[in-house]
Amino acid sequence: MTEILEPTEKNIIKAAKSIRQDGLVAFPTETVYGLGGCAFSEKAVVKIFEAKKRPRFDPLIVHIAEKDDYKLLCRIIPSPAEKLIDAFCPGPLTLVLPKRENVPDIVTSGLDTVAVRIPSHPIALKLIQYSKCPIAAPSANRFGHVSPTQAEDVLSDLGDSVDFILDGGPTLVGVESTVVFVTEEETILLRPGGIPIEDIENVVGKISTKRKMSKLLSPGLTKKHYSPKTPLYIYEGNIDELIEIDRDDYALLTPIPLLVNDISMVPLSQDGDVKEIAANLFHQLRSLERMDYRAIIAIPVKQSGLGHAVMDRLIRASTGTVKIENQKLVFIDR
Ligand code: TXA
Ligand code: MG
Repeated sequence: MTEILEPTEKNIIKAAKSIRQDGLVAFPTETVYGLGGCAFSEKAVVKIFEAKKRPRFDPLIVHIAEKDDYKLLCRIIPSPAEKLIDAFCPGPLTLVLPKRENVPDIVTSGLDTVAVRIPSHPIALKLIQYSKCPIAAPSANRFGHVSPTQAEDVLSDLGDSVDFILDGGPTLVGVESTVVFVTEEETILLRPGGIPIEDIENVVGKISTKRKMSKLLSPGLTKKHYSPKTPLYIYEGNIDELIEIDRDDYALLTPIPLLVNDISMVPLSQDGDVKEIAANLFHQLRSLERMDYRAIIAIPVKQSGLGHAVMDRLIRASTGTVKIENQKLVFIDR
């Protein structure tokens, strides 16, 4: 039976004990909830893959609490990586670096690199410290589904396959960490996320964002991911035309409130603040899939700052695009 725990000191110690005994603990980070197990225990890591129904070729992120622990897991820390660690860790940034032998192959899906991050959430940090081992943790959702931003989401996706869920309330950032591959020569974006690309470039200069490259380096980055059960389509066209549509069987997911005719509107923020949009995105996708809409129509957000991560998740969640022709919605699957 899964037990949901208030994050008291005593309960975090209880959860940490379970990690040391190869158990699984879901815990809040500043981005989304993670499904954690001891990174040095193959037994625990196998359980993580099984609980999520995640393919073994999709490597996990290892969570640590101290900057010094990067050296415990990584053979080389190139100088741009050191700068990024100083600037953004703890925080929603994951660095992919050459791995040491002590990191089990199952964690990295056989790659010779390992993804490591220091979450900035106090409950996550305590859990790692008390467990006395790095914690391998993917997002605590069923593989391919929307990432969890609250304890109930974890419970509904993973049911009884988790020993404990530490309930820290809703997460703040709402989208996962930015993942970068770092060598002495270059920094390559593998996944946009909680630390904006522009902020990273302010520290290490221009980074490479080539999609082909990130696919090659990060086997788990599938085109379709983060998907709600209700199909989602990205709107391509004029907003004025869209708000005239009279269809109460569709839901409109918008960055800001709009005056609409008869289509149900779900604004992700009150005034377009992209932090608020990111924080609400996964929660709203999960709420919408519980209603009976035929489809969710998502209006794109501006691609700057956190907007890159929000658009990345919307595109991966989507079944296709939608436009308007002769006052009718036209859906195009991809
Ligand atoms: O914010 C986050 O990053 C959350 C919280 C729980 O920390 N975790 C998370 O993990 O989003 P997950 O497993 O859902 O996504 C990890 C991503 C995957 O796309 C995976 O392919 C990539 O990181 N990744 C992990 N190890 C890698 C490696 N060695 N090389 C390239 N990509 C890697
Ligand atoms: Mg995930």
